[in-house]
Amino acid sequence: MCRFLTMAVPGVGLLTRLHLYAQRRSRVQRPVLRLLSCPGTVAEDLRRDEQPSGSVETGFEDKIPKKRFSEMQNERREQAQRTVLIHCPEKISEKKFLKYLSQHGPINNHFFYESFGLYAVVEFCQKESVRSLQNETHAPSKGMEVAIPFRSRFFNLKLKNQTSERSCVQMSNQLPPSSKKLFEVLCDAESVDDQLNALLKEFQLTEENTKLRYLTCSLIEDIAAAYFPDCVVRPFGSSVNTFGKLGCDLDMFLDLNETRNLSTNKTSGNFLMEFQVKNVPSERIATQKILSVIGECLDNFSPGCVGVQKILNARCPLVRFSHQASGFQCDLTTNNRIALTSSELLYIYGALDSRVRALVFTVRYWARAHSLTSSIPGAWITNFSLTMMVIFFLQTRSPPILPTLDCLQTLADAEDKCIIEGNNCTFVRDLNRIKPSENTETLELLLKEFFEYFGNFAFNKNSINIRQGREQNKPDSSPLYIQNPFETSLNISKNVSQSQLQKFVDLAQESAWILQQEDLGGPSMSGNQPWGLVALLLPSGANRKSLGKKKSRKPASEKVKVLLESIKSNRTENFTNTNGKRNVSTQT
Ligand code: GTP
Ligand code: MG
Repeated sequence: MCRFLTMAVPGVGLLTRLHLYAQRRSRVQRPVLRLLSCPGTVAEDLRRDEQPSGSVETGFEDKIPKKRFSEMQNERREQAQRTVLIHCPEKISEKKFLKYLSQHGPINNHFFYESFGLYAVVEFCQKESVRSLQNETHAPSKGMEVAIPFRSRFFNLKLKNQTSERSCVQMSNQLPPSSKKLFEVLCDAESVDDQLNALLKEFQLTEENTKLRYLTCSLIEDIAAAYFPDCVVRPFGSSVNTFGKLGCDLDMFLDLNETRNLSTNKTSGNFLMEFQVKNVPSERIATQKILSVIGECLDNFSPGCVGVQKILNARCPLVRFSHQASGFQCDLTTNNRIALTSSELLYIYGALDSRVRALVFTVRYWARAHSLTSSIPGAWITNFSLTMMVIFFLQTRSPPILPTLDCLQTLADAEDKCIIEGNNCTFVRDLNRIKPSENTETLELLLKEFFEYFGNFAFNKNSINIRQGREQNKPDSSPLYIQNPFETSLNISKNVSQSQLQKFVDLAQESAWILQQEDLGGPSMSGNQPWGLVALLLPSGANRKSLGKKKSRKPASEKVKVLLESIKSNRTENFTNTNGKRNVSTQT
């Protein structure tokens, strides 16, 4: 029976949960000030300062009614349509800049960031302001090369006279922290729970980065709209499923549903009017043709889109490119609506309990640190599979922390009914209808149990399945079998080799062992030795040695230096700005 079935009485379960968390946390929590503010303003600074050091503002705080995925996407999309991207001169006065732009209408929000130059993201209150700005904008004066006259929402601001003013704008950070900064933060934490929350806080997408992602989709939508005026370009994957880290790729879905529906709905009396269209033999060929044309457009006309690659023979055809101004590596697809639904499901799981995201971020980071995941396609485990493993593990706790997909299906109403390509994708979309878990286990315990669980999992005979939340017999001999939640006959980790799986199991066992040793002593007993999460991130084998050694008396900065040296010599690239990329050929 599904324990999450009972309708949540808004507030009551949540209050109980808040109380339990408060008991667990050693630090006093202050209320988070919510101010409608521009990043870089005093109000924004105040809001940041008010953030209690042990807690993480996730955008999913318990007291706030949780938004449906579709509501959130629509709101963000509408915001993005009122937004422009401006490449600015290095020396710019923020005040004068805003005054100049305000001629076109009131500005709702803005921020600056650096990415091979200074950029401003400016959100007007009304769409008309964007049009007004476009109407007043000049085509660049001719130099040696000829400009293609394309009017986008990506501008260049030039100064007529060089100014002697110093630039005094506050930058919004779009990059993940350096390994040094992360280790300092982790060493400063007071408990393993604090470390996990700190890692989440450092890596999660910021409000500004999320805005930039939606804006980038909106700019690509403008290009695609030249051919398909009713199309929508929707972000999916980790940019929106609450598990994205700064620097992750931007997965985009070109949604042509509106265009398709328009051609079937218009009837009047005995007449039925259809568009004259060209036909092709299969959906796949249609997808390839559409993406091929959009890829050409991006390559030829879209400012800032570089390195456009059309990867049309992959199982899921896509166009890959870099959006230079935002720094995002983008993957544009058009026929994988199920991936959009998977993102919605993960969004729900991420929003249900604050421990989920902290655990997923930690496991993903741990896997990257040990080269279990990679940016190169191959036999590695993907971030998506790791997320499924954490969700599955949390479904197996007693009481469960997350409901099974079957349970979410029983909570669905008529509005939630959804069949995609014959697959049942029905589940409850309203987060407030899911009863919060009564499980109060700490993150530290969950992390240790996660490693123990998968360090001893019978991968040779059992599969992982978040639909039912329990182990099942494997239907084939793939080393790792994680059932695709919607296309249930498919394995999302079909690409994983036996040796990669064994590496995962060995590291999980070692990590469980390290955390068990901590249990015996605790961080306070660890002296100057790396403890908790830091110990887990050290190269395999280093811990057994270091835990066996006599404790040294080095200052904190020295400890961080030693750790970094030890890690650098093993695998430097894992701790820099890495993006886990999808294995194009094996996606199932
Ligand atoms: P990052 O590594 O942070 O980019 O995580 P991600 O979740 O965005 O993964 P990725 O970019 O590889 O894929 C984007 C989305 O495509 C995922 O969130 C899933 O919804 C879907 N996806 C990725 N890999 C698979 C797969 O192997 N099978 C299926 N069915 N869907 C996948
Ligand atoms: Mg992605």
